[in-house]
Amino acid sequence: MWIAVCKVDDVPGDGGACIKWGEKHIALFNVTSRDDWYAMDNRCPHDGQTVLARGIVGDAGGSPKVACPLHKNSFCLKDGRHLGGQDDWRLTTYPVKVEGGQVFIELPEEKHRGAS
Ligand code: FES
Repeated sequence: MWIAVCKVDDVPGDGGACIKWGEKHIALFNVTSRDDWYAMDNRCPHDGQTVLARGIVGDAGGSPKVACPLHKNSFCLKDGRHLGGQDDWRLTTYPVKVEGGQVFIELPEEKHRGAS
């Protein structure tokens, strides 16, 4: 189910924002250098902090990535895998689309959006 989460202008270029969805915190990224958007769980699996939306967006071998702002573990924005080879740290990713200046994330139907 596609959920309107914010306006394009609400998210800084090559930066992120946190979207609350039920118990989940989703990290939404506006990767202007690639003209694309990505969404993944905001909770870093290294020590469980919900900080990835404040991470540093970059590139790893031609793929977009985010580096956690706390200890710099990096994750692929396309598929959520840990770029240091820690296979059990894979993050859930979500499809994103933009229509008429509005950003939508495809999220599981059973969740309910909380205040952000
Ligand atoms: S909390 Fe993200 S790398 Fe440590």
